[in-house]
Amino acid sequence: MLPVMMTTKITGDFQHWASVGQQRIEARLQTLLPSADLAPQRLHQAMRYAVLGAGKRVRPLLAFAAGELTEAGPGRVALAGGAVELIHAYSLVHDDLPCMDDDVLRRGRPTCHVEFDEATALLVGDALQSLAFQVLAENCLTDDASAQLEMVRLLAAASGSRGMAGGQAIDLAAIGKSLTLPELEFMHIHKTGAIIRAATLLGARCGTALADAELHKLDHFAKCIGLAFQVIDDVLDAEATTATLGKTAGKDAQNNKPTYVSALGVGEARKLATQLHQDALAALDGFGERALRLRQLADFVVMRKF
Ligand code: IPE
Ligand code: IPE
Ligand code: MG
Ligand code: MG
Ligand code: MG
Repeated sequence: MLPVMMTTKITGDFQHWASVGQQRIEARLQTLLPSADLAPQRLHQAMRYAVLGAGKRVRPLLAFAAGELTEAGPGRVALAGGAVELIHAYSLVHDDLPCMDDDVLRRGRPTCHVEFDEATALLVGDALQSLAFQVLAENCLTDDASAQLEMVRLLAAASGSRGMAGGQAIDLAAIGKSLTLPELEFMHIHKTGAIIRAATLLGARCGTALADAELHKLDHFAKCIGLAFQVIDDVLDAEATTATLGKTAGKDAQNNKPTYVSALGVGEARKLATQLHQDALAALDGFGERALRLRQLADFVVMRKF
């Protein structure tokens, strides 16, 4: 069951839009993933287990919302957003492994390595990552071939050692240490922000090209939202319950991880998220009604309860 995007301020209209997007991406992922009865069955079952049926789908929704800025076809955005969600799901499977955060619960279910085994979980991550790039390479996402190549490059850079994987390396090296605020920001914009930024830019690139100044504004929006997303993830780890989160609450403190909560406390961390939210919204000034869904997603990122 996909989670319902409920917060206090967000309207029913947004919930409906988000639910349509979640269903669209779920259907797309169903067909992008190899069938569970195709050999090697156990690996394919585990890939489907890690990706399907749960998750907020924030990254594909950002892609759809950014696609609305550029009149992108939703079918194309679903492919680009689906590729980003495959990378995200892979990052979660590896993040939960005993050699990383050692978590047993994810999206309300046993983590992939608990449900299957560690070697399978490792291969699930590898195969999801490869599948993401196969999706970008073998589908028509934009009429401009050089723009499509740029999309592949963008997702690769966001996933690699100067993006998500690099951020995860910093996260593991920081266990038991206290980081300065600039160091925390550097870690968070890499481990989480990079993929969120890529989702937004890929969604926009499925439509007509934005002028440089507009692209710069959209990118700044995505950077602010990407960082705010992880600040709130840190806050929820400290404040929310395991039942609400669908993952073990209190895990950052238990694992001795430096976070915005350990550095600033919950109240100041929330204030920072609010500041980033304001900066993100300000970056969208000038886009008008076309940016409605991006604004609402920004609201969701900072007001969410899970
Ligand atoms: C969790 O991401 C991991 C982070 C990058 C903070 P999400 O909170 O988007 O997880 P799902 O996809 O909804 O399960
Ligand atoms: C995860 O950060 C970032 C990535 C998966 C790349 P966390 O380790 O805080 O994510 P959760 O809290 O386990 O979802
Ligand atoms: Mg982690
Ligand atoms: Mg984790
Ligand atoms: Mg976390």
